[in-house]
Amino acid sequence: MGTTTAAAELAASVRQGYRDFLIPAAPPYYKEPLVLVEGSGSWVTDAEGREYLDFFCGILTTGLGHCQPDVVERVREQVGRLGHTSTLYLNEPMVSAARRLAGIAPKGLKKTFFTNSGTEAVETAIMMARMHTGRDEVIALRYGYSGRSSLSTSLTALGSWTPLGHSAPFITHAPSPYCYRCAFGPPHDECAEKYAKQLEEVIVTQTSGKPAAFIAETIQGAGGYIVPPPGYYQRVAEIIRKYGGLLIIDEVQAAFGRTGGKWFGIEHWDVVPDIMVMAKTIANGFPLGATIVTDEIAGSWQGKTISTFGGNAISTAAMDTTLEVMERENVPARAEKLGKILRAGLEKLQQAHAWIGDVRGMGLMQGMELVEDRKTKEPSPKKTGALLEAAKTEGLLIGSGGLYGHVIRIAPSLLSTEEEIAEGLERLARACRRVT
Ligand SMILES: Cc1ncc(COP(=O)(O)O)c(C=O)c1O
Repeated sequence: MGTTTAAAELAASVRQGYRDFLIPAAPPYYKEPLVLVEGSGSWVTDAEGREYLDFFCGILTTGLGHCQPDVVERVREQVGRLGHTSTLYLNEPMVSAARRLAGIAPKGLKKTFFTNSGTEAVETAIMMARMHTGRDEVIALRYGYSGRSSLSTSLTALGSWTPLGHSAPFITHAPSPYCYRCAFGPPHDECAEKYAKQLEEVIVTQTSGKPAAFIAETIQGAGGYIVPPPGYYQRVAEIIRKYGGLLIIDEVQAAFGRTGGKWFGIEHWDVVPDIMVMAKTIANGFPLGATIVTDEIAGSWQGKTISTFGGNAISTAAMDTTLEVMERENVPARAEKLGKILRAGLEKLQQAHAWIGDVRGMGLMQGMELVEDRKTKEPSPKKTGALLEAAKTEGLLIGSGGLYGHVIRIAPSLLSTEEEIAEGLERLARACRRVT
């Protein structure tokens, strides 16, 4: 009884402290936010001792699960030996992690610049494209998310994440190939071409015709796991290159086997980007962003740049071991196999509940778009909120996304067992039954 009271008091004091001392711009999930104190593999424990199966991985970041033992050991060892050098001096983990990344990246992408976040990795990509081409204009996609800096919020095209509007004048947005809400209507066999043509139309109508780059996520994450139709990426790669621009692919959410069968999402479409951006799962929870480019593009950086913490020995040691474990466990193959089980389970739920309008995704990155009515497809953020809370009651953590917060995002650990996927689906099914 004493422990229970103490635990409840700790949780209450953390929640109150949050309200008192932290800026409320990044609101936590749930009416009563969770105070997490421990994690192991696919499971986390809150301050009051309740266990949850984590099917969101802190927004696809603890990709190997919580406190993966090899990563913990490597970081423990590194932090006790050498924590910080800055980029003025070399450290071995930084070089080893970069070498490992080049080993799995699409052919030709070889040189990495390390930062601390996906936002900075995107910033680096845009700067590189502008320096390499000597041009300014960049085209991004509607429903895209690129980060929280001034530049990356301008690239972002989701109203709730761009409170100051689009302040960078050299950015325009092309329509997203959002199949569930297709702008073109049936038949859909030519949608990839029609959406790709929209990029061309934006280039010729809203830019000087000389763009520096087109940037896109392989699967739009915050936008609600929007998967482009087959053929789309091949065509947009051709189009942006036809106009002399570079293709920047943001793999912040989709990289490292997450989409199943391949290391990077873009590989599903046999397209090699000029610049690729990663973060999140790259170091299994340690802060790290990476921008990888060809030798030629790497050489076009003008002047100097520095990131004090970027490439620090602790985060890159975590990355080095994260990639080592991923290779050892063959996570792309695992995600493909487990993703099929997850997808089948979600489709079964869709059959049982009319408000699950769409199920989509790849590998272990699967989403459900919730609607008030399947015919009108009116988005239902209300149901999404209710399902998030109901899943929490069932001991399951899932995420939300989409323009109206009406899409459920599911991304379990890449090292999940089949039993954990089955358990998560059972909990989700119970949670769905709680939603009225
Ligand atoms: C696709 C994508 N790009 C960039 C970012 C920005 O990353 P960070 O939050 O690490 O700055 C995110 C973050 O969610 C993202 O999902």
